[in-house]
Order: sequence, then C-alpha cells, then structure tokens
Amino acid sequence: MTEQTPARVDMEKIVSLCQRRGFIFPSSEIYGGLSSCWDYGPLGVELKRNIKQAWWRAAVQERDDMVGLDASILMHPQTWEASGHLKGFSDPLVECKSCHLRWRADELAGSSCPSCGGELTEPRLFNLMFKTFMGPVEEDASVVYLRPETAQGMFVNFQNVLDTARKRLPFGIAQIGKAFRNEITTGNFIFRSREFEQMEIEFFVKPESDKEWFDYWLKERFNWYVKLGIKKENLKLRQHMKKELAHYAKDCYDIDYLFPMGWAELEGIANRGNFDLVQHAKYSGKNLSYFDEETNEHIIPYIIEPSAGVDRSALAFLCDAYDEDLAEGELRVLLHLHPDLAPIKVAVLPLSRREKLVALAKQIYADLRQCWMVSYDDAQSIGRRYRRQDEIGTPFCITIDFQSLEDEQVTIRERDSLNQIRVPIKELKTVLTAKLSGERFDTQPLWTAKG
Ligand code: GAP
Repeated sequence: MTEQTPARVDMEKIVSLCQRRGFIFPSSEIYGGLSSCWDYGPLGVELKRNIKQAWWRAAVQERDDMVGLDASILMHPQTWEASGHLKGFSDPLVECKSCHLRWRADELAGSSCPSCGGELTEPRLFNLMFKTFMGPVEEDASVVYLRPETAQGMFVNFQNVLDTARKRLPFGIAQIGKAFRNEITTGNFIFRSREFEQMEIEFFVKPESDKEWFDYWLKERFNWYVKLGIKKENLKLRQHMKKELAHYAKDCYDIDYLFPMGWAELEGIANRGNFDLVQHAKYSGKNLSYFDEETNEHIIPYIIEPSAGVDRSALAFLCDAYDEDLAEGELRVLLHLHPDLAPIKVAVLPLSRREKLVALAKQIYADLRQCWMVSYDDAQSIGRRYRRQDEIGTPFCITIDFQSLEDEQVTIRERDSLNQIRVPIKELKTVLTAKLSGERFDTQPLWTAKG
C-alpha cells in the first residue's frame, strides 16, 4: 500500500454485497473459514469468467502474435531453482517471543510485537512457496511446489511453442491459471490471498526492441481496464524503484488502482530481459535460443511480462462499479458493470404470475438463454425486482405486461439511465445484441406497433 488517499467506497460495503448476493464467500465457511482463501459463488464465478474471457479476447483472440497455454500447476522442482524462487522468493519474517505471531519485518513500524508488545526475534527469510510431496513417499526427493506464478510454465515451454505454433519474434504466450503463495500479510478481502488466479503474458522480443515493446504493453494494459469501465482517475502507472525490482527485472511498472484502502498494485508489467531463458537453458541443458533469419544469428529473446490478477481485477471492477443513488425516492445500490463483465446480462420479469403472461415470459427466457446468462424473476413487486438486478449489475431488464399479449412487444429498461424502450419480441435478440455491445440507449422507441 502506498499513499493514504481517501477511500471512495468502504470495503465493508463491497464485502457485504458480495456475500449477500452470492459473489464471494469465505472458503469452507461452515468450518469457520480458511484464512485468506475465498470461494466464488454463482454470480462471482460469472464475473470471474467474464474477466478472463475479456482478457483472453484482448490478449489472444484479437491478435496474430499471441498463442495460449495451459501448463500444469506442479512443475519439475528444478524449475524453481532456475527461476530463483527457491532462493529469492522470500519475505523477512520476525516472530513474537510471547504470542508467537509472525510479522513481515519490512512492514513493521516499531521494534515490538504490534499485537501484544512482546519482544521479536531477529528477521529470518521465509519462503512463500507451498511445498508438497509427489507420489506415496514423503521424502526430500519427492518435494514439489505449488507454482507461485504461472509465468514459469511459459518459459519452460518456449521451445515447444516455437516449434509448433510457427511464430517469429515478436510473439507472446498467454496463460490464465491458479497460483499459490504462503503470504504473511494477507487481508483486504480478495486483494491478497494465498490461492489466486493470474492472467499472464510472456512477450518474446528481439533484445534491441525491449523498450519499445515495454512501452507498448504499458499502454495496452492500462487501456484494457479503461475500456472495461474503470475510471481513468482511479488508475495510475508507478515505476518500481531500483531496490523494489524483483531479482529478474530490468524495469517494472505497476498499474495501481485506487482501492478502498488506498492506491495498490493491480497489475505488474516487467521487462525481464533474457534472465528466464538463460537460466532455464543453463539448468536444463537445452537450447532455448531463437534463430534470427534476418541476421543469421542465434539470439536469446528478451521478455516483456504483463502480469495481472483475476481476483484483484474482480475487486477493482466491483469497487469501481459500486454506486448508490435515489430511484423513485428510494436508495438504490447499483453496480455500473460493463456489459461484458456483468454476471447476468438480461433479467426477464413478467408483471404478474397469470398463466398467459408466465407462458410468454418463460418462452422469452428460454430463447434468450441460448445467447446470454439470463435470470427470471417473478417474486415481489416490479420495483423490488429492478433493485435486485441493479444491485448485481444486470444491464437490462425486460418487462412482460398484459399489453405484450396484444401487441407482441416488451419493455427493455436500462440499469444506469433507467430509460425504457418498447421493442417487438421478434426483434429482442437483435436489439439486445446491439445494446450489450454498447449501442446508445435512449427513450425513442425503435419500433411502433405499426412497424
Ligand atoms: N510473474 C510475475 C508475477 O507474478 P507479481 O507482481 O508477483 O508478478 C502479478 O504478481 C499479479 O498477480 C499482481 O499484480 C496481482 O494482481 C496478482 N497477485 C500477486 N499476488 C497475489 C495475491 N497474494 N493475491 C491476489 N493476487 C495476487
């Protein structure tokens, strides 16, 4: 955490909304929860899937210089020797001699235990990797680690991808997956947890073009958040000071977001130089060079790495989207989520539970579900139902009323403006497709009953 800037939305409000509406629960809650582990509920899992899909689309689908990968979480233990994680991936830790709580030495303000005031031990390095054993025998030879970043899977597969995907420099590998860190300082909800998901790109470039590509990815990644609705003023780029740089990095910027607790890292973008390929070539004895046909030389590419967290992105999108306003004289909580991220895109709301209306509403519901995540709600007043959808960020509600049985039209109501338009049922999918991809929503009816 850096400067203390006034928070815009209380973290408590976000945590409470997430729990109340089924976005995120503490892990294994019936047993009292497991520290810094979280479970994504029915809406949270949709939000997360949408974030990953938007990232994959921008990182892989829309580009011809990127391919995907899904490497295993457990990797050969030598990976972590070569990467420097066995030696270097540690925090300095002190322990209280009275209450035995452990603290990060570099984050402590005083010299005694913040909890009980007790005397502290000398700092010692604590490795953040989770250790386990592979196979039936728990011995040193069978130790493996849960990966603390997805990146290494892409470095060790560099040659495989090069040989099979027929890519020339510059090109990248993209991967989404779980990572694990036995963090000492956790907290702030899903901001820092011990099990989390990363969305990482390893972009391989010619050494002399590293700065150009580094700048390119800084802009590209910053704009990704803005395009998905995060307000520019809540984002900033922060260059790492020399002493902050990870052992592999030549240069690094964080994209910081103004979280409720202050500015903090949302994504890191590093110029890793040739560190990783050189190290893995050395430890594996394999050739990880690239033959440059322009210069007839074997070179070791440099790597630019934009590394984002799915969970941290989810928190940032939720915080940025959170709003409260007055609608029809009542306090309304709403999430202005970008339509691409909203867990539910459309809610189908029949005005009454009369048989004919329900039949039509169910038919529309079944039809729209072929295209999007759609919710059906016929419980309580229409106002209450609108509020329920606003609170989870559903961009559009469709109301089916008795007039719909006569004129075969329904009303679409937009979450942010509260504007409503009347649309023929047969055009519903077309209109929703356009609106969900950003077409302006105004009150002018697009069609009339006559045509
Ligand atoms: N491969 C580079 C790397 O892992 P990092 O800055 O340690 O770099 C990248 O992590 C991103 O992963 C962070 O910006 C953050 O979004 C996410 N992340 C890292 N540790 C996390 C944790 N304990 N909980 C949640 N997200 C985390």
